[in-house]
Amino acid sequence: MPDANDRPAADIHTSSKDAAGAPLGTAADTSEVFQPSEEVISAAHIKDWEKTREDALKDPVAFWSERARELDWYEPWTTALDDSEAPFYKWFTGGKTNVVLNALDRHMNTATKNKIAFIWEGENGDQRTMSFFRLRQEVNKFANVLKSMGVKKGDRVTIYMGRIMEIVIAMLATVKIGAVHSVVYGGFSTEALAERIEDARSRVLITADGAWIRGKTVKLKNIADDAVARSGYVEHVIVVKRTGEDVNMEAARDYWYHDLMALPIASPVCETEVMDAEDPLFILYTSGTTGRPKGVLHTHGGYQVTISTTLKWVFDIKDEDRWWCAADPGWITGHSYIVYGPLIVGATSFLYEGAPDFPYPDRWWKLVEQYGITTLYTAPTAIRGLMRFGESWPQRHDLSSLRILGTVGEPINPEAWKWYHKVIGGDRCPIMDTWWQTETGGHMITPLPVTPLKPGSGTKPFPGIDMDVVREDGSTCSPNEEGKLVIKQPWPGMLRTVYGDPERYVQQYWSEFKSQGWYLTGDSARKDEDGYIWIIGRLDDVIKVAGYRLGTAEIESALVSHPSVSEAAVIGVPDEVKGNAIHAFCIPKAGGAKPTEEVLKKHVREEMGPIAVPAKIELVDKLPKTRSGKIMRRVLRAKALGQDVGDLSTMED
Ligand code: WT7
Repeated sequence: MPDANDRPAADIHTSSKDAAGAPLGTAADTSEVFQPSEEVISAAHIKDWEKTREDALKDPVAFWSERARELDWYEPWTTALDDSEAPFYKWFTGGKTNVVLNALDRHMNTATKNKIAFIWEGENGDQRTMSFFRLRQEVNKFANVLKSMGVKKGDRVTIYMGRIMEIVIAMLATVKIGAVHSVVYGGFSTEALAERIEDARSRVLITADGAWIRGKTVKLKNIADDAVARSGYVEHVIVVKRTGEDVNMEAARDYWYHDLMALPIASPVCETEVMDAEDPLFILYTSGTTGRPKGVLHTHGGYQVTISTTLKWVFDIKDEDRWWCAADPGWITGHSYIVYGPLIVGATSFLYEGAPDFPYPDRWWKLVEQYGITTLYTAPTAIRGLMRFGESWPQRHDLSSLRILGTVGEPINPEAWKWYHKVIGGDRCPIMDTWWQTETGGHMITPLPVTPLKPGSGTKPFPGIDMDVVREDGSTCSPNEEGKLVIKQPWPGMLRTVYGDPERYVQQYWSEFKSQGWYLTGDSARKDEDGYIWIIGRLDDVIKVAGYRLGTAEIESALVSHPSVSEAAVIGVPDEVKGNAIHAFCIPKAGGAKPTEEVLKKHVREEMGPIAVPAKIELVDKLPKTRSGKIMRRVLRAKALGQDVGDLSTMED
């Protein structure tokens, strides 16, 4: 979704509770419990949550193997989990498969073939529906187009567009022929796109002329042209016509999607490439502690097992459901729960192009009513944003089709949870607060529909997932003691490496608890007396803004790339709607003219995209640093929030 403004804009003010620095998710009552209704229990796939968890944890590898057997394989695996080169774990080795075999091909033998795979609505009201059969044909046609452009197994293809059906088709077509996609979210801009193209060395870029958002267009092709000029790898650009605006088409480099799809080469028959379980599936870049984004790599075999099992169990997906994951295909939530998961389980999905509050703040609720959505999965920031408009907007609509609700991306504050539960869910729908990461592929901490819920907690790990909250020395924290959230055993949907940088993979995730062999999530959390996990926030220099994951270093490097800035530091401060807002401090270059806040914001927008634009930029003469030159963000944060700056003994000056 090509604009930060796809979510209702935040009022930039903080309540007294937030000003105290408490993350929005922690001001919770750990004893308040919502029990599932009889109706929810009788419909549920898994009726006994605790026992299922307990049994699966006795032998997670056996548990996951059983789930894997529910999918199709060209050839069965010989080893379920190979840990001989840990932490480079391998799952289902020897197995041959392709995610597309399970997402599309196998449905051609059942009634799912004729089922609607996607119902799509454009922001302007355009509609499109596509059956599994038709989707597979479009995918095959485009797969043949990609082949004709020389795309081969293992090649990387970058995809950069809005929420339209062609993004789904492009992803599946790439995977079908054994190539690897790198989807770059449409809200990113030139430098962010160029960097990701370069890191993946993509020779083909698939984009659109533009994308609709709030009645305006984001000029994706213009941004893509600039990024291609900067990165220097791309040989072909395929352009989907969506907005119809004028774009530059470079002869022999740029092609219209619809022209290519009309060529004889675009045959609807295309073999699915037989892949090893551990062959690369996609790269998805995410922010970490350094300026360079990390290319999280997922593979065919294990990923499909994690996402199909979690989707089926957590949202209890049934044939009669109409599933709406309101994320963007450009993020992991969209990869796993818009594209691959729903197709594998044979679900009917709804996909909406535009903003939740366009043309009025009831657009989403109108869509729920109009399409009879049964299961809705979104982010706390969207709920908080829509809550701000008041109850009258959802109350205008019949939301009785809804059965189960979900959230993801950041802690949900109990107030928003209760609003979602009462006003949207009619006190009837359980809320699945799912904790996971780009790296985990699918849900890790989450309730199932039958789970007794506590607003603000994702409850406990999914069956077969072994997690804990531990102290620095690895010992388990006492109830309610804050510690580091770790994953103690490998799981099929885990990332396999950081693309092109295996050392960073080891360093980032596996070095802190090396002797125990645990994965470090980067989050802090606590477990209450019932074993329910409460996420507190990130421990690294990652800021979650409206659910988006941004690295302070990336934004700082965008700021210092402006000629008038010599140094920059970025912090997150609590924000009522977005969870966090970005505040930046910049030291202007000596001698030159001082930049204005507006100029710097515009610069960040052009380089990184709207999602990274700081809410506030202050010009300063100095930044607080340690004697070794590290910026003391806690001092900046305390100052920004008007709090005591604490111990300054390690400060340089
Ligand atoms: C980080 C991962 C997983 C899809 C979207 C985010 C935070 C995620 C929750 C939740 C509290 C959450 C964590 C995590 N997070 N879900 N339900 N409750 N925090 O993926 O961009 O890779 O970010 O998002 O801090 O580490 P991501």
